[in-house]
Amino acid sequence: MRRYKIAAIPGDGIGKEVVPAGVSVLNVLTQRCGDFALDFESFDWGSDYWRRHGKMMPDDGLAVLKPFDAIYFGAVGDQNIPDHITLWGLRLKICQGFDQYANVRPTRLMNGVPGPLAKARPGDLDWVIVRENSEGEYAGHGGRAHQGHPEEVGTETAIYTRAGVTRIMRFAFRLAQSRPRKLLTVVTKSNAQRHGMVLWDEIAAEVAKEFPDVTHDKWLVDAVTTRMVLNPKSLDTIVATNLHADILSDLAAALSGSMGIAPTANLNPDRNYPSMFEPIHGSAFDIAGKGIANPIGTFWSGAMMLEHLGERAAAAKLMSAIELVLAKGEVMGRDLGGTASTAEVAQAVCDAIHAANI
Ligand code: IPM
Ligand code: MG
Repeated sequence: MRRYKIAAIPGDGIGKEVVPAGVSVLNVLTQRCGDFALDFESFDWGSDYWRRHGKMMPDDGLAVLKPFDAIYFGAVGDQNIPDHITLWGLRLKICQGFDQYANVRPTRLMNGVPGPLAKARPGDLDWVIVRENSEGEYAGHGGRAHQGHPEEVGTETAIYTRAGVTRIMRFAFRLAQSRPRKLLTVVTKSNAQRHGMVLWDEIAAEVAKEFPDVTHDKWLVDAVTTRMVLNPKSLDTIVATNLHADILSDLAAALSGSMGIAPTANLNPDRNYPSMFEPIHGSAFDIAGKGIANPIGTFWSGAMMLEHLGERAAAAKLMSAIELVLAKGEVMGRDLGGTASTAEVAQAVCDAIHAANI
């Protein structure tokens, strides 16, 4: 039997609700498939851990996670701790420490999910955003000087390296090549940001030569937001910097109907370290503790984890179960206009996994 060691880190807020739901659905799925097992180990790292220990995870946290095959992550963020402390102390530490340089964010308008675009039909919106996940505006470069004085200054320097841009560009071209339309949109802001973004454009043109069968175009980030809304069908795979893609992927999630269903994979494509899979929505403390968070984004992230582990059949089965539940529309979370709780959505997906036809 194939076995995979999975570190589950629910983290904060609704992460504590959706990750256990995801673990239970994945356990039902592995029992149904019968040919592989996921051995979950759960870690209580996050803001409560910080309140007890003054840190988001133990000092040797990365060493503890290193032997795992993948990380199944919930969210970080707490009302009473500054965001930059919680994020840099756990999630970004894992992303940076494990060189998870490719952040993959698929978005699809699914059957049964009402999106805000009046004219878009399922099939018109089926994108994957590839977010550079290790440098750019998240490189952590910058500082504060003259603190507390009127002349105080804060700098935030975006870093783009030839190695970093080339590897994400190759990853994005390869991903675009693997999709039926073989279409990649390279997003920058090289009209205003005339150093790093021009380097992106140059490297995109170089790497494009290695992929003659992929059609690519180059768009400015502001303009691409209008294209996403007005002509979603014209897009397929999109590659952008860490911050640009952070913003575009929230827009994409909203256009596909809800933040609650959007998944993410933080990949270390070289497989020197475990990759990390998480819903995109964050800790959402406004609804935390109520048992009403939509777990679909966590389930879809679980399907991406199975893909990454090479369990394609199981991943497809889980996606079919998710699609079936959404298309039926009987058990829908509140973000999708329904009344179902986290547990009810999880149960519906488990029932769909057992349905004979998938
Ligand atoms: C995301 C989030 C994070 C990010 C935050 C919470 C740091 O917005 O996953 O998109 O910007 O990376
Ligand atoms: Mg974001």
